[in-house]
Amino acid sequence: MDKTSEKERINEIIESIMKVARGDYSVQVELSGKNDDLDSLAMGFNMMIDDLKASTVGLGYASNRIEETLNIIQRVARGDYAVACEVSGENDIFDALGMGVNMMIDDIRNGIEELRRANEKLQASEEELRASNEELEAANEELRATEEELRAANEELQTANEELREAQEQLVRSEKLASIGQLAGGVGHELRNPLGAIKNAVYYIKGKIAKSELGEKEPRVMEFLNIMDDEVNSSNKIINDLLSFSRVGKPAVSPTHIDKVIEDSLSHVPIPESIELVKELDADLPQVEVDPDQIRQVLVNTITNSVQAMPEGGKLTVAAGRRDNFLEIRVADTGYGIAEDTIGKIFDPLFTTKAKGIGLGLAVCKTIIDRHQGQIEVESEMGKGTAFTVKLPLIIKKDR
Ligand SMILES: Nc1ncnc2c1ncn2[C@@H]1O[C@H](COP(=O)(O)OP(=O)(O)OP(=O)(O)O)[C@@H](O)[C@H]1O
Ligand SMILES: [Mg+2]
Repeated sequence: MDKTSEKERINEIIESIMKVARGDYSVQVELSGKNDDLDSLAMGFNMMIDDLKASTVGLGYASNRIEETLNIIQRVARGDYAVACEVSGENDIFDALGMGVNMMIDDIRNGIEELRRANEKLQASEEELRASNEELEAANEELRATEEELRAANEELQTANEELREAQEQLVRSEKLASIGQLAGGVGHELRNPLGAIKNAVYYIKGKIAKSELGEKEPRVMEFLNIMDDEVNSSNKIINDLLSFSRVGKPAVSPTHIDKVIEDSLSHVPIPESIELVKELDADLPQVEVDPDQIRQVLVNTITNSVQAMPEGGKLTVAAGRRDNFLEIRVADTGYGIAEDTIGKIFDPLFTTKAKGIGLGLAVCKTIIDRHQGQIEVESEMGKGTAFTVKLPLIIKKDR
């Protein structure tokens, strides 16, 4: 077709432009050879297309190489370190990029290898640590067991020691009691007769003096005789105490109503009016197998102590009741109490804090209650009062 018509030539140029706009760079506008403006335009267009084609090809190449490199980086990111970027040998920027990435991959691979080795070492030392830890725990366990054994043995030893100490104390007490008893019995017996003679003589002289002039002229003679009489009486009391102490023998037990023994004991001790007596005896008191005389002695001694501890008056409580397998008797006062440093000695024979005491009352109580296989306990607070509790077993073992 003749393309000389300008309109056609313009149309062709426009069509080519449209093709390029759609991405087709293969177009070329034919020149008419007229060398006119339209040919210049077509030439310019063709050159532009060539340029465009060249840069588009470059762009595609670049995009391909970048995509390849990106692919490799992505695979590395997913953990595949056995890859490498291909180097074209063109020595262009993409080769440089690929080499850089390859170096980076090498570094990462080496780092990972090092990490793996360090991890292996760590695991090995962890294993060693675990093993030594286990050994340590086993040793610890053994130690604990031995410690436990040691503690148990120690406890046994302590118990044995305690028992030994108690037995020794008991032995010393009974030895002491036996020799004191012997001495007291002998001395008491020896003194009883001369004291009796003195008492009779004083009585006789008092009778004579009362009727004589001397009595009137020298009233002090009578006074002295009265003093002698009083002193002989208190000496007699001491001798009686000593004798009763030396005579504490094996209890002669029989089924006993304890309330009767309590009443009997109370009638033996003069209780001043300044002291309020409170009796708390349970209604259903069981009978007990005891020696009533000896138990009365215990109650007389403790009640006497309570009365003596309340010179200004106070309250005396005597209580009795059943507690499990025991009959419990309690004598409590609101007296001056017992000091902490002496409470451990009050059951010792001859321990006393009183000017006129001998210190045998509680020693006798302890001996009697021991022989009944019972217990006697004390609680006291200075300035508040003291309570003695006697526990008598309701089921008696045969062997006393
Ligand atoms: N109820 C009590 N209140 C305060 N102290 C007491 C009481 N009972 C005993 N004691 C103390 O215990 C000591 C010993 O008492 P124990 O009855 O054995 O002897 P005593 O009363 O001193 O003399 P004895 O009873 O031979 O006449 C007393 O001297 C006293 O210190
Ligand atoms: Mg006493």
